Amino acid sequence: MRVMEATSYQHMSELAADYLLNKIRTQPYIVLGLATGGTPKGTYDRLVKDHRENGTSYRNITSFNLDEYVGFSPDHPNSYHTFMYENLFGKLDVTKENIHLPNGVALDLVEECKCYEEQIENSGGIDLQLLGMGSNGHIGFNEPGTSFEVNTHIVELAQSTREANARFFSHLEEVPHEAVTMGIATIMRSREILLLVSGESKSEALKELVNGEVRESFPASVLKMHPHVTIIADKNALSGVR
Ligand code: F6R
Repeated sequence: MRVMEATSYQHMSELAADYLLNKIRTQPYIVLGLATGGTPKGTYDRLVKDHRENGTSYRNITSFNLDEYVGFSPDHPNSYHTFMYENLFGKLDVTKENIHLPNGVALDLVEECKCYEEQIENSGGIDLQLLGMGSNGHIGFNEPGTSFEVNTHIVELAQSTREANARFFSHLEEVPHEAVTMGIATIMRSREILLLVSGESKSEALKELVNGEVRESFPASVLKMHPHVTIIADKNALSGVR
């Protein structure tokens, strides 16, 4: 794992956007794995700005998001579909058919998970997966204790995750209890992974990732077994590491 140190959230976002832009420009047919949440938002803002100013095209990219809440239709204001269209896809020249997020209102969610895996496989697999990390070490919505062997699956969200995500809702009660997420095995099949970590609230988790052992009780630790991982972390997140 290569660790790049950023001075601030803004700097982390700049470095991450440059990293992604370099890939997108040299590989216009790239298959991206994408994340939602506060961590990648600044990166997405920069991709949008670059698209406006420099015209970088996303017409030929394919993307697969990590996760979606169970019970939220794509047009729900708090769905991850809405997050991605408001913050990124709606502002780029993407080809809608190439954009994928799990369907949280599929009648048969187990079948939906299977189809999602097949779609990733049929696209040739994910070239570059962008990740954030929960303060309990979750990646995607793979909470502590998740087997490293699982593919896309339905998960029950940890109470701490629901509380952390409540900032995007009016009340904690509105935060769903379940989600569909790429599994750890799905994430590990990506050819390359870019993990972004920002803020003091993630410093314990980042310390555990860098210094701790590989164990299912700390999902992000699996990344140590991947051959091509880059971490871009800001000073506050790295405060516990050195
Ligand atoms: C989001 C995702 C999650 C987040 C994590 C950190 O699609 O899969 O693993 O990356 O919960 O969230 P933020 O960035 O909001 O701190």
